[in-house]
Amino acid sequence: MGKMIIVSNRLPISSTERGDKSVVQILAGEYASGLLNQLDKEEYLWFGWPGVAVAEAEERAEMIVSLKEKGMVPIFMDQKEAEQFYDGFCNETLWPTYHYFTQYIAFDDDLWEVYKKINDRYCQAILKKAKAGDTVWIHDYHLLLLPQMLKEQMPELKIGFFQHIPFPSYEIFRVLPWRKEILEGMCGADLVGFNTYDDMRHFLSSVGRILGYNHEAGYIHTPHHLVNVDSFPLGVNYNKFREAAESKEVCELVHQYKHELGSQKLVLTSDRLDYSKGLLQRLRAFDLLIDNHPEYLEKVSMVMIVMPSRTTVPEYMDLKEKIDTLVGRINSKYSTLDWVPIHYFYRRLSFHELVAYYRISSVALVTPLRDGMNLVCKEFIASRTNGDGVLVLSEMAGASKELQEAIIVNPNNIKMMEQAIYAALNSPIEEQQKRMESMQKTVRKYDVYHWSKIFLSSLDRVVQKQQKLKSR
Ligand code: G6P
Repeated sequence: MGKMIIVSNRLPISSTERGDKSVVQILAGEYASGLLNQLDKEEYLWFGWPGVAVAEAEERAEMIVSLKEKGMVPIFMDQKEAEQFYDGFCNETLWPTYHYFTQYIAFDDDLWEVYKKINDRYCQAILKKAKAGDTVWIHDYHLLLLPQMLKEQMPELKIGFFQHIPFPSYEIFRVLPWRKEILEGMCGADLVGFNTYDDMRHFLSSVGRILGYNHEAGYIHTPHHLVNVDSFPLGVNYNKFREAAESKEVCELVHQYKHELGSQKLVLTSDRLDYSKGLLQRLRAFDLLIDNHPEYLEKVSMVMIVMPSRTTVPEYMDLKEKIDTLVGRINSKYSTLDWVPIHYFYRRLSFHELVAYYRISSVALVTPLRDGMNLVCKEFIASRTNGDGVLVLSEMAGASKELQEAIIVNPNNIKMMEQAIYAALNSPIEEQQKRMESMQKTVRKYDVYHWSKIFLSSLDRVVQKQQKLKSR
């Protein structure tokens, strides 16, 4: 059996600058922790960017050695390349396009050239370590050209590609001058996976209209090989959140927070700072709630955790200003000597602090304007050891397809969101428990392990199918 090769833009590590050196630490976020636990049992390699520009050859060499024992291979970029690849083509061209923010798209051929160059850098690094029969699982929009590059050079690799962010409708996708090359790049994989059925449908429609390839029952017949396309909703590491929620550390924090907050009810919102997350709309809905219900003054507050993200991209800097201003305006309007309506944290909280907030909040407000899946809502559900709590969830998040027992809202409709928060705060406990139980069942069953298992078994299946077709 061949080895497993995982490829993502970032390695699952956090790199921090200490003195003039970067220090790396394994990160337990997103899908990475689930995959790492699973991969520990077999031979694997993980290729990705360490997240910082490492310029010195000596420092690069040290990093290669220290990551080697963890099965990780760093792909380096210098400062300029990171600006043009990560900030530039990935986050100023692809991210806004795929999240329907066409007004933010940068159309720049120089950025495209760097995108191709970095995808090729990944390809060359992988080819040095890969053997025929190995499985390569590529993640996300940073590496859309890599499947085809690898397939052309080593057709005997089993290649899976999973896109974590949405795939837009054809009418949006077609605006990209490089649309053809991007689709051809993705079609180099044997299996292409998305979070939802709708994303998959949009992709197939673009493949049909732009590349002219036919598809039938989730299989595309390209001139080169058969490609399977399917949806695999990403899950969380349910048990990890469950255990953390019951841990001594979290129980102590819960006790402390409750003591500080008294009988106040909390509405929680936690996300990266990103225009796709609809953070201003969440604030406006909360403002309207307090305005319409003065009885909530000093009784209900919002905990707003905003994680810094892509801080050098202009749209993100601009949004930060707008959030700061709006939070300030709302707080100055209603605050009293011993109460503020919005507790605003612009930083990454520790894992235990986050889980403690999941536990003590009555309502989670998860209302992105567009989101491939959104794992925050699943983490909230997994952490509710008491079996109560209400989720207000955007219909634009992939998770809404699975979590129908949430209160589903259109995040552009501020009035609707305000009414949903009100309904959530007043939901009878039996109703809360009934809905929560059902959502917990879903999130527990379809966790991150289930997700990777079904993705990899589908990949095996399509490769077998290709072999049967060849031997006919
Ligand atoms: C989304 C993307 C991931 C990305 C994450 C954080 O979830 O799908 O690929 O890693 O955002 O963004 P960042 O730019 O910090 O890696």
